[in-house]
Amino acid sequence: MSPVSNCHGTATSVNPPFRSALVSVALVATLASRAVAAEDVVLADFEATTYGSWTVTGDAFGPGPARGSLPGQMAVNGFKGQGLVNSFFKGDDSTGTLTSPEFRIERKFLSFLIGGGSNPEKLALQLLVDGKVVRTATGPNSQSGGSEALAPESWDVSEFAGRNAILRIVDDAKGGWGHLNVDHLAQTDTRSPGLASNVKRDLTPRRRYLHIPIQNGAPKRVVTLFVDGKQEVRNDVELATGKPDWWAVMDVSAWKGRKLTLQVDKFPEDGSGLAAIAESDSLPDAATLYREPLRGQFHFSPQRGWNNDPNGMVFFNGEYHLFFQHNPYGWAWGNMHWGHAVSRDLLHWQELGDKLAPDPFGPMFSGSAVVDWNNTSGFGKPGKPPLVLIYTAAGNPTVQCIAHSTDGRNFTKYSGNPVIPQVTGGNRDPKVMWHEPSKKWVLVLYVELPNRGHTVHFYTSPNLKEWTLASVTEGIRGSNYLFECPDFFELPVDGDPKNRRWVLLGANSEYGVGTFDGTRFTPEHSRLPGHRGQGFYAPQTFSDVPSTDGRRIQIGWYQTETKGMSFNQAMTIPLELRLTATPEGPRMTFNPVRELESLRNGKFQFDGKVVSPGEPNPLAKARTELVELRAEFEPGNAEVTFTVRGATITYDPQKQEIVVNGHRAPAPLRNGRQRLTIYADRTGLEVFASGGLTYVPKPFQPKATDLGVSVESKGAPVKFTSLRAYPLKSIWNPKR
Ligand code: FRU
Repeated sequence: MSPVSNCHGTATSVNPPFRSALVSVALVATLASRAVAAEDVVLADFEATTYGSWTVTGDAFGPGPARGSLPGQMAVNGFKGQGLVNSFFKGDDSTGTLTSPEFRIERKFLSFLIGGGSNPEKLALQLLVDGKVVRTATGPNSQSGGSEALAPESWDVSEFAGRNAILRIVDDAKGGWGHLNVDHLAQTDTRSPGLASNVKRDLTPRRRYLHIPIQNGAPKRVVTLFVDGKQEVRNDVELATGKPDWWAVMDVSAWKGRKLTLQVDKFPEDGSGLAAIAESDSLPDAATLYREPLRGQFHFSPQRGWNNDPNGMVFFNGEYHLFFQHNPYGWAWGNMHWGHAVSRDLLHWQELGDKLAPDPFGPMFSGSAVVDWNNTSGFGKPGKPPLVLIYTAAGNPTVQCIAHSTDGRNFTKYSGNPVIPQVTGGNRDPKVMWHEPSKKWVLVLYVELPNRGHTVHFYTSPNLKEWTLASVTEGIRGSNYLFECPDFFELPVDGDPKNRRWVLLGANSEYGVGTFDGTRFTPEHSRLPGHRGQGFYAPQTFSDVPSTDGRRIQIGWYQTETKGMSFNQAMTIPLELRLTATPEGPRMTFNPVRELESLRNGKFQFDGKVVSPGEPNPLAKARTELVELRAEFEPGNAEVTFTVRGATITYDPQKQEIVVNGHRAPAPLRNGRQRLTIYADRTGLEVFASGGLTYVPKPFQPKATDLGVSVESKGAPVKFTSLRAYPLKSIWNPKR
């Protein structure tokens, strides 16, 4: 299945179609041999407006060759000249055939360009000799995503020399990838390197890692690793054919000294990717790890590859565990694993490698973790409660599964998986908690129902293994919004243990406040906005934070794109969530966790300062790359603007809004006052206003050389009860 379009969309970079300056060779009407470029014989280049003497059936091929992409299709590239055969005419569901007149085989190879869907029976370029199919080729794409690019392939046809043959292009496929792209059919004795199938390389690793060359945007190849003949790893990899953009890492320490075979489903015969895979005991570029120009210096990001949602957030044996949606082998979304990192202070993270890898149930989508204190699951040992991960295996069907550990390092998938069968396709993202009053586990699951749209299903269980459906919530008060990654927790209002509410929130952090009886959530009002910024998604809160601490700590996926790096995306700073009473009812507040204060590395303090329009910047000396800025002021009619490394954060007193680098958010004054907290890292800003009712995350890349911090007022002088700028230390390189 494919995740929904909203969120994993790092813009796909699309190469402009190859437009050769070659004089267009008209479709060879008679297919008579015609020598071009030395001795090659072009059978068809599909540059004319019709198919000439080729025979068309059905409607998939349209009235003539396509000129690149057809309506509704991703960009098609890799074809030669201006035209090609593209059976996406009228979309994927159209079918038909396109058959050449007879021609004589007079060269050793038959070469062509091919792309589109993969289905050797229903989507094929076929060579027929004496009416029998003797060669077949199909496109590369079998699942959603992928690319419309055509790539060169060829057949050795020397055994048919002198015989008559015909070519037939068949599209008998409907639905996703139900089309084929074909171009430039030629006979040749000197074929250019084509795609070889199931290319293999054997190795017996002596070291911990394999370094795998990745070229962002290269066609995805299926790379499979067999250990002593058994398939252990399978991923879609943009394997570099030449110079890689970066090196991914596969940990093979578990198989040291064993016989490994790496297999690539299709790969250019002259590509260096498989041969270039190297063994090493260290990470590639280890010396610059965490010092890369776009590495957030106080935000978690994985060492390599792509991350999206935080997963399995739990406090266990003195450590905060942060799992995350991870593509170890790509810079963009795909191959979903659960990466894993731990921290003792929510700031300094140690990445421990991937803990859940795709398996026959599918890729490992989002989920949560709990400590099973009473060993209800039986996965524990005396004195050792198990840590249990609950996750979505997003295959077909898409099911909910569990895995367990007693040391927080080694995880075993439960042999009885799945624990919840598919309700409807795309159901996902289980979040589990212990409900003390009913002495049961409660699980919330995002499920889309055909007639009701997005819902949250509530399940209960005595042991984390057997689940019973308890209720189905439709958004909040009928609003059909609660989309993926639900989180559900109880909070006191203004810290009053007797006045508690439950909060149900979705991936975009919109939420509802209400009551929960152990089976059913009853919201008190319609949905409420969560964060007010951009680039924040799929947040989750830690479970099992000790009750002596009692905080509800949230981390979101911080959608900070880091082009040119060997990693992409990050997590937000940890946020403390609370409920506070307002005239409209209890509302959630976001604040940076207090642990962040330990990163302060100096202070520029101007408490009591009055800043008048035109006055020199009081923070001129606070030149710093990483900064926390705190200010409390009564703006009156004055517009107050902070500039942090080129980004502006303006308080607009007329509208009572904050404008964070152009993005507006409501930020009401409280008793005429505003309190702002601004965190700025290499990848973005996070701004807190109105006592935490307003949280504005905003990805932003400052210029490396711009270290300025300033404050100015417009319209009237402003008195700052407090004005402080703290340069911050890096979490990765504490000496900085
Ligand atoms: C949210 C999400 C989840 C899903 C995961 C897949 O960003 O779409 O619903 O489990 O990402 O990576």
